[in-house]
Amino acid sequence: MSESIKFSVIIVAAGSGSRLGGNMPKQYIKINGKTILRHTLDVFKNMEGLQDICVVINPEHKTMFEKAILPPLGGADYVKFCKGGNTRKDSVYNGIKELSNLKDEDIILVHDAARPFVKQSEIYDLLSVMQDYKAASLATPVVDTLRYDGEKATVSRDNLYAIQTPQAFHYGVLKHAHEQAGDKEYTDDTSLISEMGIDVKFVKGSKGNFKITTSKDLTLVKRLFITETRTGQGFDVHRFDTVKAQSVRLCGIDIPHDKALKGHSDADVALHALTDAILGAIGEGDIGLHFPPSNNDFKNMDSAEFVKHALKLLHDKGGEVINTDITIICEAPKISPYRDEMVDKIVEITGISKTRINIKATTTEKLGFTGRGEGIAAQAIVNISLPAQENS
Ligand code: CTP
Ligand code: MG
Repeated sequence: MSESIKFSVIIVAAGSGSRLGGNMPKQYIKINGKTILRHTLDVFKNMEGLQDICVVINPEHKTMFEKAILPPLGGADYVKFCKGGNTRKDSVYNGIKELSNLKDEDIILVHDAARPFVKQSEIYDLLSVMQDYKAASLATPVVDTLRYDGEKATVSRDNLYAIQTPQAFHYGVLKHAHEQAGDKEYTDDTSLISEMGIDVKFVKGSKGNFKITTSKDLTLVKRLFITETRTGQGFDVHRFDTVKAQSVRLCGIDIPHDKALKGHSDADVALHALTDAILGAIGEGDIGLHFPPSNNDFKNMDSAEFVKHALKLLHDKGGEVINTDITIICEAPKISPYRDEMVDKIVEITGISKTRINIKATTTEKLGFTGRGEGIAAQAIVNISLPAQENS
């Protein structure tokens, strides 16, 4: 199994990002609150078989680097770092020397910090060929038509590949290649290895693993990945039925009580407020619009279904719930003994993690309809993240 292959990684991050411009090297620019370098490191952390990571940095960027690796990564034994060189090739060589604890046949990956979107599955695919090859690289077949400027004939794109990183090597082979390299400049390590007559295996990568190079690339990344936060609120009231009951349903839990709430569905006032809050955050109206009381299909319905429906609409838009805060307003029953159970139930219904759900209750000091015990009110606030939409 490729997952069990042991490997170490050199992440080259010592460049200045001159083609992108701006006042900060591109690997330290933040996307969704995390530096590009950290996004890259987070792909590798927790991978099966990962030994050491060495990040090659420009010492002038040390403060930014230290911030980028906090909080600590976990997974890898630890993250080493070393000083970069004037060229990418020099930086890789410094990383090789820093990992001098490795044996010749150990596998070393070299990856650009500026490619944060590589997938773990692609890295495992790359590792899996290392039983048969001494060098391999992720690569994508060229799909565009190719021509030399000014010439009429097109260039055949058969067997043409765009080379990506990570690239994988036997440590000894990569080290030897760099020791002999001389001053010639290479923009990747497979070029160097091929010149030594060693076969390089290309493993199919994906377009998603592109290198952030220009400011246009960064704009694209922001369009694809930046999210915005929205808030929705919901409020609902149900009156108590006059018929004597055993329990009242709140947040999906049947709490022992001598009065139940009246409603077309199961009258779970808290879940209705939650549903409305989710619908509100995504601009989808309210619960009555989606589940009209005039429709008998919804009679006695479990209100968990309303919440699930609203969540599906949210997920279809690529959104996620960040947190919810629900307040139940009643004199009785007492909510606090059931609060944990309610939170667990909402976890079960929504898949939202426990730490993102808060349920609280209040009385209205015997004032108003809730104070007189005529019914229960509930309100909910939901924060969501959504992919940012241009012009909307
Ligand atoms: N790199 C490096 N040391 C260098 C030059 C580049 O470690 N002396 C790293 C970059 O940080 C980047 C990767 O090599 O992660 C790929 O290089 P590139 O995309 O060219 O990045 P930069 O050199 O930073 O950008 P530019 O060429 O536009 O200045
Ligand atoms: Mg460069």
